[in-house]
Amino acid sequence: MEALIRVENLCKIYNPGENEVRALDHIHLVIEEGEFVAIIGQSGSGKSTLMNMLGCLDVPTTGKYYLNGTDVSTMTDNEQSAVRNKEIGFIFQGFNLITNLTALENVELPLIYRGIDKKTRRELSIQALEMVGLEHRMKHKPSEMSGGQQQRVAIARAIAAKPPVILADEPTGNLDSASSREILKILRELHDGGRTVILITHDDGIAAQAKRVVRIMDGKIESDFINENFSE
Ligand SMILES: Nc1ncnc2c1ncn2[C@@H]1O[C@H](COP(=O)(O)OP(=O)(O)OP(=O)(O)O)[C@@H](O)[C@H]1O
Ligand SMILES: [Mg+2]
Repeated sequence: MEALIRVENLCKIYNPGENEVRALDHIHLVIEEGEFVAIIGQSGSGKSTLMNMLGCLDVPTTGKYYLNGTDVSTMTDNEQSAVRNKEIGFIFQGFNLITNLTALENVELPLIYRGIDKKTRRELSIQALEMVGLEHRMKHKPSEMSGGQQQRVAIARAIAAKPPVILADEPTGNLDSASSREILKILRELHDGGRTVILITHDDGIAAQAKRVVRIMDGKIESDFINENFSE
């Protein structure tokens, strides 16, 4: 069977020429369906750049990215955006919630673009908010919630349509340790439920919660190992 994600010799060069930045430098990476992978590295190591490639938000300078066996570079823009909508749930460090919408409305909004009808949108959104423990905050706006709660709304939004792949870029970056544990527990539950979870972090303690840890440095993969302490 084809791997979910297969990255071959992938390079990303920003500003080619004199001031060029080699953000990703010949990356090889295979991720199978259902894995729980942390991608760890220092600031500037290329983590978000890699996430943007994996999420079809940006295209590599050279190299190949196969998603479910399909060469992403051969997909049209429409096909790539369909992949983003259907296959991938994004969680960003900055939450990116819409301030004048309630938690429930924030979770419902992207479901419109997936062509899901109103009743189902509501059902899926309530389910997702329950999963992250926010059923009692559904009518609250982001400004009326704590940082950890806002991040949980962002997670609910990412998982509401049940995408098979979750891409989370520093989802605990702005949170205290109790909220971080809560978010990691949710990611863990998503993995237990069969989703593929890719978690980007600069924190060893966070990465240690994942089943596999890929370390990136200066745009190169430095190590890639299975966490022996991870229990299924
Ligand atoms: N749009 C851009 N134009 C030019 N250089 C960029 C651009 N985006 C990122 N870079 C550079 O590419 C390198 C990798 O950046 P990236 O954002 O992937 O790092 P990161 O590992 O996510 O860091 P952080 O932990 O701080 O989020 C950095 O040196 C950065 O300055
Ligand atoms: Mg980043």
